[in-house]
Amino acid sequence: RTEQRVRELLARMTVEEKFGQLQQLTWNPDTGPGEGQNEQATVAAAEGRLGSVLNITGAKECNALQRHAVEESRLGIPLIFGLDVIHGYLTTFPVPLAQGASFDPEVVTRDAEVSAREAASWGVHWTFSPMADVSHEPRWGRVAEGNGEDPYLTAQLAAAKVRGYQGEDYSADGRLAACVKHFVGYGFPEGGRDYNTVDISERRLRDVALPPFKAAVDAGVATVMAAFNTVNGVPAHANPHTLTRILHEELGFDGFVVGDYNGVQELIPHGVAADGADAARLALGAGVDMEMVSTTYAEHGKELLEAGRIDPRRLDDAVARILRVKVRLGLFENPYTDEDGQIAEPTAAARRHARETAASCAVLLKNEGRTLPLSKDTPSLAVVGPLGDDTKELHGTWAGPGSRMFPAVSVLEGIEKAAPGAKVTFASGCDVTGSGTGGLAEAVAAVEASDAAVVVVGEKAGHSGEAAVRSDIALPGVQEELIRRVAETGKPFAVVVLAGRPLALSGVAEQAPALLYAWHPGIEGGNAVADLLFGDVAPGGKLPATLPRTVGQTAVYYGHENTGRPYSPDDPYTSKYLDLPHGPLFPFGHGLAYTTFRFSGLELSEKSVSARAVREGRATVMASVTVENTGDRKGDEVAQLYVRDKVASLAQPVRRLRGFERMTLEEGERRTVTFELGASDLGFHTNDPRGELLVEPGEFEIYAGGSSEAELHTTLTLT
Ligand code: IFM
Repeated sequence: RTEQRVRELLARMTVEEKFGQLQQLTWNPDTGPGEGQNEQATVAAAEGRLGSVLNITGAKECNALQRHAVEESRLGIPLIFGLDVIHGYLTTFPVPLAQGASFDPEVVTRDAEVSAREAASWGVHWTFSPMADVSHEPRWGRVAEGNGEDPYLTAQLAAAKVRGYQGEDYSADGRLAACVKHFVGYGFPEGGRDYNTVDISERRLRDVALPPFKAAVDAGVATVMAAFNTVNGVPAHANPHTLTRILHEELGFDGFVVGDYNGVQELIPHGVAADGADAARLALGAGVDMEMVSTTYAEHGKELLEAGRIDPRRLDDAVARILRVKVRLGLFENPYTDEDGQIAEPTAAARRHARETAASCAVLLKNEGRTLPLSKDTPSLAVVGPLGDDTKELHGTWAGPGSRMFPAVSVLEGIEKAAPGAKVTFASGCDVTGSGTGGLAEAVAAVEASDAAVVVVGEKAGHSGEAAVRSDIALPGVQEELIRRVAETGKPFAVVVLAGRPLALSGVAEQAPALLYAWHPGIEGGNAVADLLFGDVAPGGKLPATLPRTVGQTAVYYGHENTGRPYSPDDPYTSKYLDLPHGPLFPFGHGLAYTTFRFSGLELSEKSVSARAVREGRATVMASVTVENTGDRKGDEVAQLYVRDKVASLAQPVRRLRGFERMTLEEGERRTVTFELGASDLGFHTNDPRGELLVEPGEFEIYAGGSSEAELHTTLTLT
């Protein structure tokens, strides 16, 4: 019925109306350069020359604009309203990178469900999320918006987020159409500089960048957004290889592709289009169905069509894709949002979810001498550091409208509530940025006068996100100096890091007996941090991205190739830095608990299996491992399974994550988890653009444990 309806509508549309459906305008310039286009949008909506508007919110405002489209335009095709609902609408959840640290798809789904309910009540139909860009680049600000460096983890979480937004049927109340972005390779910009060149081999594109997009498409994602970057010289907005061949033909995606903000027009500065007409021809021809903000399709589409420079079948395909999503959204039946149903504030349940999520995303990096958890009976506590009393930066980058309406719970407030008997003293000590050291003495005095201290440092929300790139990823300002001065007091203390990217924390890790990486944790951040500091909640997050020792070590990631001269301390001619110890500061997948775990009994259902049978999907191998809580309290662990193809026709990563499961175990409890390994786990792509997956005979090392440096292993042979 959907297809019939789409065909019937298409048959009634004029060329102008068709190009109109391909146009999206922005209500305000919140998320990109230039002016708001609200007046233009109102006129175009009434004339049936507009498909979508972004950055408009409020049930009343959305309905008013929708009325022009539905009641005044010739065919009454409703508009679809899009917004970046990235990690919350009213209720801010932790930034997506933090959510990667949960290693828990349910956590991600829960954010998406709450966000969808809130945003939909404000007239939003469509979110530009999840961002599924795998990245090895901590300098790149948008690393905050993805789930880190690993394709498998990001794929699982992207699919979970799509399911959370869309549910079974995204026309249902409180659901949104999702948009997986940015297609593709955006996470690999040269030098980490946003929008910069991406030169990525076909095999890395397919083995690293694409899997999360495939997972989102398999989960039924409604739409895809094209990326700003070039891929091997071809801008993503003009790339038929990625948009048509891979997305349409290989992945079977039947929703629509929206360009990014001015992305079609930007084909001109990219240097592949001579003018707007050329840009429109290239982008539409490659597979961008809807143009965001720039207006080259609307301005030049008709003349290009008449000149035979646009294939009319491609135009109809683009329109049909957009109409299909509108039909699936139920917009023709329900174009308006109930104005009385607009959710006013985060509900208690939403706040509870946000708090639990923030706690489950924090990573305990270090805990010497069991500094943590703190006792609630500690008579006096100092909270120092420029983010200790912050209620704004904790929301993080790309936070929703709620971040401007509702302050986040500060760490100070969280601690005061959690330990009402303690005398809590606060002193910021310094700013997040800036070189002023004048306040350090006050902070040190507060620590000296207390029994223990919590130092809250990190980055501001605006230090990560779009176009927010740092060439130095150490703690900004004099925050490290503050930590050094606190360490000199000899008091027990923990450092809490609030940030939107992997920071280089060598100096901090040296000084701090305990280090908790809580990211930008969202509206309930302070409560969640206090839950962890006092042990009301067991820390169990794991690093979704390697923490480098210094910025000069980037890109450092666990799934690298071995090189012909892998590092050896005894041989000078090996791959290393002269001025750094080898390896990362903390590896991917690392995260401590307040208890300890042991992995044992790693077993395979088969020690040897036919490579061909695996490739053809006729055989899989089950790997099981037992996890035991060997400590003295309940805790969370993430069982992680890694694979290494020891000899292949192309050099392979030293490890690839192929399974994970987060669990809570009581003291002494054991659980056996089983992971299935099939073609995508044991195979790899080549540089052949046709994208064949090879599964080659040979030995594979299978590792299981609590981080990417797990030692327990066994061998699988593919014959
Ligand atoms: O969705 C975003 C995208 O990630 C970056 N440019 C603007 C878009 C719409 O706001």
